[in-house]
Amino acid sequence: MRDSTAQDLLRIVVLISGSGTNLQAMIDQIHQGDSPARIVAVISNKAEAYGLKRAQQAGIPAKVLSHRDYASREEYDAALQRLIDGYQPDLLVLAGFMRILTDDFVRHYQGRMINIHPSLLPRHKGLNTHQRALEAGDAEHGCSVHYVTPELDGGPVILQASVPVEASDTPESLAQKVHAQEHRIYPRVIEWIARGRVRLEEDTVLFDNQPINDQPRRATPD
Ligand code: GRF
Repeated sequence: MRDSTAQDLLRIVVLISGSGTNLQAMIDQIHQGDSPARIVAVISNKAEAYGLKRAQQAGIPAKVLSHRDYASREEYDAALQRLIDGYQPDLLVLAGFMRILTDDFVRHYQGRMINIHPSLLPRHKGLNTHQRALEAGDAEHGCSVHYVTPELDGGPVILQASVPVEASDTPESLAQKVHAQEHRIYPRVIEWIARGRVRLEEDTVLFDNQPINDQPRRATPD
């Protein structure tokens, strides 16, 4: 049973591996005001992840579960699942968690796990997306928030934001522009989920009860 004071809140566990600027955007935007969402724990597979400090500064429990302490991916994911489920989350948020997840883990959280990927999916799944967008001569690039399914970076997209690619752009400048957009759209999606506006049914994302799979929403530019 959930704590009665927290009953109406969407309980969120955030997984990180690094700097945690997306986590910070969530803390800044969701933990202020009257949001019906609360981050109840932040878990990192790396002890040195700066995002752990961000969590502590916000008074959020911050835990480390190192993958180096486990012999296999299956054992690590099983331990991670036990740790996460101890917090009884409604939503699991991947925010720069740099691990491939086992199918069992993904299935356990299907429909309640989201990720942000630095490209306009389905373009540029995987790593080095900014470099690859430049090499491909893309006129626009961006980021996507999507539900996580067993197909890596292949789950149904909820919201995207785009940035124009300029002739002078480098992977670093693009990363900076895309990151700024990530900080806008990730908290927004969480807020929608907390307010019951977005959900996954089977493989279909519903926004205000309307399927949006064929046409993921694009955030309007600033
Ligand atoms: C972001 O670029 C996100 O798209 C990717 O990992 C990075 C995390 O950055 N999944 P940060 O740790 O939130 O700063």
